[in-house]
Amino acid sequence: MNLPPVRIIPQTVPLAETLFSQEQIRHRIGELAIQIEEDLEGSPPIFLAVLKGSVMFLADLVRAMKGQVDIDFLSISSYAAAGERTGVVRIVKDVEILIEGRDVIVIEDIVDTGLTLAFLLRTLQTRNPKTLRVCTLIDKPVRRIVEPPIDYVGFVTDSYVVGYGLDFKGRYRNLPYMVGVDDVAALAADPDALKPLLHGADED
Ligand code: IMP
Repeated sequence: MNLPPVRIIPQTVPLAETLFSQEQIRHRIGELAIQIEEDLEGSPPIFLAVLKGSVMFLADLVRAMKGQVDIDFLSISSYAAAGERTGVVRIVKDVEILIEGRDVIVIEDIVDTGLTLAFLLRTLQTRNPKTLRVCTLIDKPVRRIVEPPIDYVGFVTDSYVVGYGLDFKGRYRNLPYMVGVDDVAALAADPDALKPLLHGADED
């Protein structure tokens, strides 16, 4: 007789704590917008967001800016071997605006090993922007392998982060604040375990 496979459901939801609340995010983005504006020299910059994780961040950041800005998007796919990033990255959706001679600010969700960003900066640099700067929502310096230059950092943490655009296996991007996952292995075993957070909009 063929028995259905047994699915082991973890008894406890992997713990996730609020790392950065909606209010903290709003406040920090206001500070970043002021800082970026102070560094701008006249002509409208291009805010170049790396899909998909930085979409919420881009949307809030540009709305906090006073002057005119252009926005554009690019999408990359990273090749991972044995779950680890290799730095082998491919552009799957390219920028549409010509960046030559423009002030470009790359909007990243997270810089972790730094491999993705390093690839991206090398590629963009060949297109001769006037200036090329980087603004990341999260900096995770602990796992860094290469050190691409970062001009603006929203928050620093070592945790695995979900929410506010950041995902785990495509989930939780629409959580309006960021949580740190205490037990990533438990979440991998049950990727929906944090679903209750999406329903109970309460972050504390
Ligand atoms: P790296 O800097 O090349 O290692 O990769 C950075 C990318 O890894 C980010 O753009 C995210 O897509 C992903 N990533 C790294 N850490 C996290 C995290 O804590 N939560 C969600 N995605 C992450």
